[in-house]
Amino acid sequence: MQDMCPGDIAGNYTEHRLRYFDGSQRTVLVSETETPYPEGRLIVSRTDLEGVLTHVNQSFVDMAGYTEQELIGAPHSILRHPDMPKAAFADLWQTVTAGKPWQGYVKNLRKDGGYYWVLATVIPNVREGRVVSYTSVRRKPSRGKVEEHAALYRKLRREES
Ligand SMILES: Cc1cc2nc3c(=O)[nH]c(=O)nc-3n(C[C@H](O)[C@H](O)[C@H](O)COP(=O)(O)O)c2cc1C
Repeated sequence: MQDMCPGDIAGNYTEHRLRYFDGSQRTVLVSETETPYPEGRLIVSRTDLEGVLTHVNQSFVDMAGYTEQELIGAPHSILRHPDMPKAAFADLWQTVTAGKPWQGYVKNLRKDGGYYWVLATVIPNVREGRVVSYTSVRRKPSRGKVEEHAALYRKLRREES
């Protein structure tokens, strides 16, 4: 994945070097601007077995700030925010590769450096007894749960570094 581009960022930002599960690295630019979850909408994506995006709905495009063309074929980790602990995604992948649904609170990084919180449910899609793809459907998280998870993830991040 390409490094994030200063020209895309709205306002002040800090720079972080992210190392992904596959060993690749990318510089991400992060601002403190939160985009509130849009009322009454579901943010939906589908990936292949490697977590590469194969479908996104309009709410996903609007919230991520990338075009659909930029998203399809990109790894889902294009949205990974440096405040998210590795443990959350390890738990996600362990659960869904075992064929079970996973639910969790996720802070996502937008193309413009801002962020948004979601309550995500990731479902393995099974055809003829085999997992063939994954779908994630997100809803608006409560403020209380967001604050609880922001604190928990800060603690997990400290333990991971
Ligand atoms: C269906 C599905 C949806 C996902 N949604 C997100 C997401 O919204 N944000 C995110 O950072 N990672 C999401 N992931 C996890 C990423 O694939 C990836 O594990 C994560 O961003 C951490 O990157 P890394 O595993 O390369 O270190 C999703 C995975 C799947 C299978």
